[in-house]
Amino acid sequence: MYACVCAGTLLGCDAAPVLVEADLGPGLQRFDIVGLPDGAIREARVRIKAAIENSGFDWPMKRLSVNLAPADIRKDGTSFDLPLALAVMAAAREFREDERDRLESYLVAGELSLDGELRPVRGVLPLALCAREQKLRGIIVPRENADEAVVVRGIDVVACGTLGEAVDFIRNDDDFFRVEAPADDELPGERDYHFDMAEVRGQAHAKRALEVAAAGAHNVLMVGPPGSGKTMLSKRLLTILPELTFEEALETTRVYSVAGLLRDRAIIRQRPFRSPHHTISDVGVVGGGSGVPRPGEVSLAHNGILFFDELPEFRRNVLEVMRQPLEDGVVSISRSLMTVTYPASVMLVASMNPCPCGYHGDPTHACTDSIRDIERYRSRISGPLLDRIDLHIDVPAVRYDELRGCEPGESSVDIRTRVDRARAIQGERFAGRGIYSNAQMGPREIQEFCVIDAAGHRLLQRVVDKLGMSARAYARILKVARTIADLAADDGISSAAIAEAVAYRSLDRKK
Ligand SMILES: Nc1ncnc2c1ncn2[C@@H]1O[C@H](COP(=O)(O)OP(=O)(O)OP(=O)(O)O)[C@@H](O)[C@H]1O
Ligand SMILES: [Mg+2]
Ligand SMILES: [Zn+2]
Repeated sequence: MYACVCAGTLLGCDAAPVLVEADLGPGLQRFDIVGLPDGAIREARVRIKAAIENSGFDWPMKRLSVNLAPADIRKDGTSFDLPLALAVMAAAREFREDERDRLESYLVAGELSLDGELRPVRGVLPLALCAREQKLRGIIVPRENADEAVVVRGIDVVACGTLGEAVDFIRNDDDFFRVEAPADDELPGERDYHFDMAEVRGQAHAKRALEVAAAGAHNVLMVGPPGSGKTMLSKRLLTILPELTFEEALETTRVYSVAGLLRDRAIIRQRPFRSPHHTISDVGVVGGGSGVPRPGEVSLAHNGILFFDELPEFRRNVLEVMRQPLEDGVVSISRSLMTVTYPASVMLVASMNPCPCGYHGDPTHACTDSIRDIERYRSRISGPLLDRIDLHIDVPAVRYDELRGCEPGESSVDIRTRVDRARAIQGERFAGRGIYSNAQMGPREIQEFCVIDAAGHRLLQRVVDKLGMSARAYARILKVARTIADLAADDGISSAAIAEAVAYRSLDRKK
């Protein structure tokens, strides 16, 4: 007899529907799976047979063929165990006709252990979205994945602990296994940060620069001696960024779902902050790897901050592979049979010391490095990556009287209010253009929206000539000046805005 069950496979951060078709015919006992299954699915034969028998059901002693359709996409992962087992049982007439109809109206995902327990799988959020797109009634998932699935509204989420429970649900349509969707404000997730800009003493210049960066979504590089607060400031940049929208939260959650990193969170409510160690490999940053591709740090930071502490220590090829995602906001990974893309829209925040010893330019410590050492150190990050960083922020050591001064700084909420206003202006400006922030402007938008007057031109001319700035820096100055004007709710770009933007290009200056 023939039977089928809906399942899904991951393609990047999306899931594509897969139909598991099982046919039980006369002949010697054998079990074939066709339709581009990967190794884990071929091995599923062993798990499925043991799980079915150990759950107290009969294994059909006939010729069993399973096809995964469509045949031209590679199916990966262990989430096919449960749909395979149920398809086999349906083909073996374990279910009545109405029960088979019920089974066919759900997308099924889950890994089986030999004794029939269901184990959690990766990517349940995209699978649940896929079930909804396919207009299925719901999704049957392992119990540990239930929180992830209920984020998707409008479908039934059925959570089971064992194969036996899944069979029980299909036979009895028992509401016991259905999971209630929580009210929106009950969705687990931390909206409060445990730190605040107000904790940073002094550093008015650096805080202002971070406000500009947050307002225009510009990448930043902080330069300063050890202990000046670069790491502290970076973490707090998160607290002045606009709140995640639900759509953004869902996008970021998909990445974590696919990476199997959601743990007990249903949906990610905070912008991610990823801070990979400088020994990370290029695959670790952009994703990929042997076997099933996985998202890398730049995708795990999607809609949030990717922090490269001690930038010059990172491997050269890592800095190279970062260029494409920073430019396009996505990562593409090519495989023999397919190309998967992961979202990778991040704010890059990097930090470095001004020289190898760390104290070049510091008033209280002497720098022990030669000019050549300093040049070699800085040249490690020059070029491709530096080209994608709009602001360079000097973070000098804080003076003792500022550190112990009791005046608290401005709170993150207050700064964020201004950032939100500037972002709203940008949202209106770029409506319908597929970009959202000044940092994303291309040459055409720069020409249209970064108009400067004669005085502004004269100022820029002097800067480019006297400070020896590259022509490339020019576009970056204009974008940042646009953001500074937006923070002031100015339509035009004033000379003061240009002067401030120029001040954020310290590393471009010829010494
Ligand atoms: N402006 C400041 N206000 C309050 N505390 C500060 C400030 N700057 C630094 N500190 C304190 O000094 C500690 C070290 O700062 P942080 O780790 O951010 O320095 P850093 O610039 O990242 O140094 P490194 O180059 O060594 O990584 C902080 O944890 C904080 O306690
Ligand atoms: Mg640090
Ligand atoms: Zn030095």
